[in-house]
Amino acid sequence: MNVNNQSIAIIGPGRLGQALGKLLNGEGFPIAFVVARRQAAARRAARFIGAGVAVGLSAREMAEASVILLTASDAALASISGQVAGLRKDWHGRVVLHTSGSAPASVLQPFKRRGAAIGSLHPFQTIPNPAAGVRNLRGCVWGIEGDLKACRVARQWVRALGGVTFQIRAGTKTLYHASAFIVCPTLVTLMNQSVKLLRRSGVSESMARRMLAGIMAETANNFVRFGARRALTGPATRGDWVTIHHHVAELRRVVPEILPAYGELVRLMAALTGRSIPDEIFRKSKT
Ligand SMILES: NC(=O)c1ccc[n+]([C@@H]2O[C@H](COP(=O)([O-])OP(=O)(O)OC[C@H]3O[C@@H](n4cnc5c(N)ncnc54)[C@H](OP(=O)(O)O)[C@@H]3O)[C@@H](O)[C@H]2O)c1
Repeated sequence: MNVNNQSIAIIGPGRLGQALGKLLNGEGFPIAFVVARRQAAARRAARFIGAGVAVGLSAREMAEASVILLTASDAALASISGQVAGLRKDWHGRVVLHTSGSAPASVLQPFKRRGAAIGSLHPFQTIPNPAAGVRNLRGCVWGIEGDLKACRVARQWVRALGGVTFQIRAGTKTLYHASAFIVCPTLVTLMNQSVKLLRRSGVSESMARRMLAGIMAETANNFVRFGARRALTGPATRGDWVTIHHHVAELRRVVPEILPAYGELVRLMAALTGRSIPDEIFRKSKT
């Protein structure tokens, strides 16, 4: 199956589905159907993608597509598979893919039982909205797994987008997904806490965002260039427990809700540097 004889149905076109649909369509992989449980959502997504007939989940015509791409939320994949696979008796010669980083391709089993090749392709990227995805999905790294024929289609798409693929084992997908989770939404959450502390220190919101952009980009660059140990800076790295103790006391007074996370991060940091934390650091002072 190549570019010339593919026709794609995208099911569950949210942030990733719309972005990927628009990119694939632009690269000459025709989006034939855009499928959503609400007709208005399907129409809106087809407009963004710039192609595709907008239909509902029970529309039989979508089963004419040669590739079915499920970009719906992970929790919906099994039920959508069960429903859509029932639209035709025989799926031989067709490919079905999903884009979840944590669910294995086997969640698409109802299609496979009827003859389809199944697989998954997951971008190691963050897509907060469809327009951002159109910008940042090019050139990124994708984890793929599943049947040979399905992986071949996934690789062909990623190549067209200037990206790189690697084979992920189905059994390790939860860990793989957690690896993205602990550096992406968690980082946004930490940055939000950092902005709160800056605001309490008298810094304006716009200045705080600018400051974070600089320090976060530099931190990421240093990690990639030097590795974890040599990229670490700050009091815990220097064994300056007095400063850490002051942090703890002030955080306990002003924003006690972030103290448990702060404590766990310092413990992980100390383990990385091979230093042990003095017992009294996280103990409440008796006043
Ligand atoms: N966004 C990212 O950064 C990112 C990155 C890598 C991988 N992914 C993966 O891509 C997939 C989609 O993520 P997303 O962030 O694009 O999600 P999203 O923007 O929330 O979109 C999810 C889509 O799934 C549809 N949906 C949910 N439940 C459904 C159901 N029962 N039946 C039919 N449609 C249903 C939603 O339709 P309604 O509008 O009707 O609710 C929506 O269009 C997930 O597997 C996710 O793990 C996302």
